[in-house]
Amino acid sequence: MNIRVIKAQVEPVHVEKENVAPAEPNNGKQQLIQELIAQYNSELETAMNYLAISENLKGMKNEIVREALAADVAVEMGHAKTIAARLHIMGVTVPCSLCFKAEQSYFKKELHDDVVQVIKGVIRAEKGAVARYKKIISLADGLKDWSTVDEMSPILTDEEGHLREFLDFYQEFKTAQSPTVGE
Ligand SMILES: [Fe+2]
Repeated sequence: MNIRVIKAQVEPVHVEKENVAPAEPNNGKQQLIQELIAQYNSELETAMNYLAISENLKGMKNEIVREALAADVAVEMGHAKTIAARLHIMGVTVPCSLCFKAEQSYFKKELHDDVVQVIKGVIRAEKGAVARYKKIISLADGLKDWSTVDEMSPILTDEEGHLREFLDFYQEFKTAQSPTVGE
């Protein structure tokens, strides 16, 4: 008994070395950050265009579209704020206006009087947002970045709701602008 105790005391303790991979660039995280910054810019641009169109679009029959866009301005800015806060927590500097690059050419002001063109533009913007949030969530999931997954998932739900709303508007307004023969 005593021999066993002594043996146990003198046996060297074997410590497994941690399986640490050599340092290498975290391309997945960099890609996630790039997508978050791109979507941050897109949210700001979307809010800017929805605000302009909600004022520029004329006509009583277009009131429902104007109201929907006006309400979405605050929602899209909220999305931008959530992304900015997430970037800050991840240690990334949130870009300023000098880094901003407009891309939504389908919202040019010449089209703001054509409600069907406006609706088609919103559908395009929302489809782009849905696709990018799915990409962001997929990238974050692959990195086990559960906080980003949790924060971006409700935004994806918002964007899918906007998309459905404007797909329905499209059916309604497209029909209204294309009367059947005999009317
Ligand atoms: Fe958004």
